[in-house]
Amino acid sequence: MDKEKILIAGLGLIGGSLACALRKNEPDCVLLGADSNAASVAAAIESGVINDGGELEVLLPQADLLVLALPPLAISGIVNLVASKVPPTCVITDVGSVKSHIIEAVNKLGADFSARFVPGHPIAGSEQSGFSAADPGLFAQRKVILTPQEHTSPAAIARVNALWRKAGADVLGMSPIRHDRVLAATSHLPHLLAYAIVDMLLHTEDSDDIFRYAAGGFADFSRVASSNARMWSDIFAANSEATVRVLDDYIGNLESLKQRIQNRDREGMMEIFERAKQTRDNFIKKHYNTGKNSMDSPSREVVFKVEPGGSVAGTLRVPGDKSISHRSVIFGALADGITEVSGFLEGEDALNTVAAFREMGVTIIGPEQGSLTIYGVGKHGLQAPRKPLYMGNSGTAMRLMAGLLAAQDFASELSGDESLSGRPMGRVAEPLRQMGANIETAAGGTPPLRIKGSKLKAIDYDMPVASAQVKSCLLLAGLYAEGVTRITEPAVCRDHTERMLSGFGVEVEGGYPDPTVTLRDGQQLTATSIEVPADISSAAFFLVAASIAEGSDLTLEHVGINPTRTGVITILQQMGANISLHNERVVGGEPVADIRVQHANLRGIEIDRRLVPLAIDEFPVLFVAAACAEGETLLRGAEELRVKESDRLEAMAQGLLSLGVVLETYADGIRIRGGELGGGIIDSHGDHRIAMAFAVAALRASQAITIRNCQNVATSFPGFAEVARGAGLALSETLE
Ligand code: S3P
Repeated sequence: MDKEKILIAGLGLIGGSLACALRKNEPDCVLLGADSNAASVAAAIESGVINDGGELEVLLPQADLLVLALPPLAISGIVNLVASKVPPTCVITDVGSVKSHIIEAVNKLGADFSARFVPGHPIAGSEQSGFSAADPGLFAQRKVILTPQEHTSPAAIARVNALWRKAGADVLGMSPIRHDRVLAATSHLPHLLAYAIVDMLLHTEDSDDIFRYAAGGFADFSRVASSNARMWSDIFAANSEATVRVLDDYIGNLESLKQRIQNRDREGMMEIFERAKQTRDNFIKKHYNTGKNSMDSPSREVVFKVEPGGSVAGTLRVPGDKSISHRSVIFGALADGITEVSGFLEGEDALNTVAAFREMGVTIIGPEQGSLTIYGVGKHGLQAPRKPLYMGNSGTAMRLMAGLLAAQDFASELSGDESLSGRPMGRVAEPLRQMGANIETAAGGTPPLRIKGSKLKAIDYDMPVASAQVKSCLLLAGLYAEGVTRITEPAVCRDHTERMLSGFGVEVEGGYPDPTVTLRDGQQLTATSIEVPADISSAAFFLVAASIAEGSDLTLEHVGINPTRTGVITILQQMGANISLHNERVVGGEPVADIRVQHANLRGIEIDRRLVPLAIDEFPVLFVAAACAEGETLLRGAEELRVKESDRLEAMAQGLLSLGVVLETYADGIRIRGGELGGGIIDSHGDHRIAMAFAVAALRASQAITIRNCQNVATSFPGFAEVARGAGLALSETLE
């Protein structure tokens, strides 16, 4: 078979740099180049960057992959010609900084052509232009945004994704409309302002002096006014609507600043400048300095202060289920076809999972308003990650990914934040090794995990701990292993993986209520739609809040009530809670309901050990319920709580003791005597659920509760403070 020919139309800064990067990173590739400037083509041939070059019309019929590296209006003007000349299998992409109008032009050319056209935009460049400015490193670790449509072919997307990865870029997905709005604000507006300020100063009388004495600030601010004028007029013409919209906002903002300046309102100005400074400092730190997620080096500590008393009322919907959100990305990426996810949890943990799959070459649009579109690459389509995959705070993500990565034909490394770096990974590494996996952990069986992909053999495994993460890890490995994988759990634990695999067309036998689940080898996943229900683990904070606070009456909408997750409801009901389920329905294979909860006088109970895995994440807030109940509550058989995001038995005991609660801990549990709660300062130990549990406790406290170290609440419940305030908690949030 002939070697694939990549044709780059336009050998300016972007096209030329792409050609240089491809040549450097894949010396054998076949690159053709076209440009209206014959000197650029000659220079590119002479320097060995392209193999051949010439007239675009002549080269188009030879292209297997075509990159339109032209100004936006030139792209929309040329697609007609392109469609008539390229071979029927040619994949086409572009680099235009405005997407909607190009897509409009492409869609007029028929479904077959537009399915092969993958709109793209590298967020890279410089104020220089032309082939002479081309730089093979221009795209290294820079973002490239693809804006495919519902009917764009996943194979074409994967090809374009791989092209940009080869150039060193990180590939993201976005809807075209969002892309154009975001870019209008973050790129187009700043360019406009730079042009405008230089132009304005040029027309002042003393412009010579102004430019002569201009200091660094002016040079920084006006740098982009040296950009290519033709290209930028094209961009504003193509993205007129979105730019005018953001320009109006900007003018409004300037007007109000002008007012403050006129009034010599220093306080008012300070307020705006401080806020802007903080925002910029944070985003520079997050996106340019650490190379990792903000969670790893939180710039500021989040502190909750909750005034005592009050009640909760109304109707609310908590964010999407964390377990299901992680799994939707994993299975969507491995499926053939396009998976649409709605209700996705936009928490830090789930976003890290999205980033990990992007790093492995999967194109994912979103999350945009809770929706994700995942262009699946198939079971064998993942690409080797170029850096360690950062799983943040999430044990679930790390353990599930371990099973998947153990079976790939490339090496990988999984890392996490401080809390995750101390959590046990032997529970997955051991059985995976039995399957033939090559996994190294740090001494003590903790992350990072270094994995060399291997051929796996199925095993029959009796899990020593009731862990859905271990079960799911082995099922993921089992998808690739030779033979029949059989896993038996010692107690019921969540079955989202089994349900979701069925949703993706994989036959899974057994599973809840049967303790054994069986998976046959050689099965593929077919893309599907997933509606993620609200997370019962997040709803749990409000189930307890309403139960303990007199006068409360709250409805939680669309909550997942999978029977392997409802331990919290059972336990609270056994304690006397007034909880009722309404509107029960099944959505995408998962049962959901609206849950009404009203205040009730709770009593202490001895919690049935069999309920432990069914309420495993809800114990922090259940301990708060126990502290507000009449009599004693006893929990045993819950040693797993010691190896969660924190040692939850210890962290909760410490916090409750400082509020004056009488309790006793055991290696595997806790005994709590209900009574009065005082106030005080609590350390959440960086554990999101400990932080939220103590926020709820304030409803029954005699004094305010201050909770430190709350930044990780964003891992599972972004916007918790706002939702809690909306429901009735007197919670304020500060950055320290
Ligand atoms: C989870 C399983 C549970 C739970 C975690 C999410 C999952 O962990 O605590 O928050 O999504 O599979 P274990 O499997 O360790 O019990």
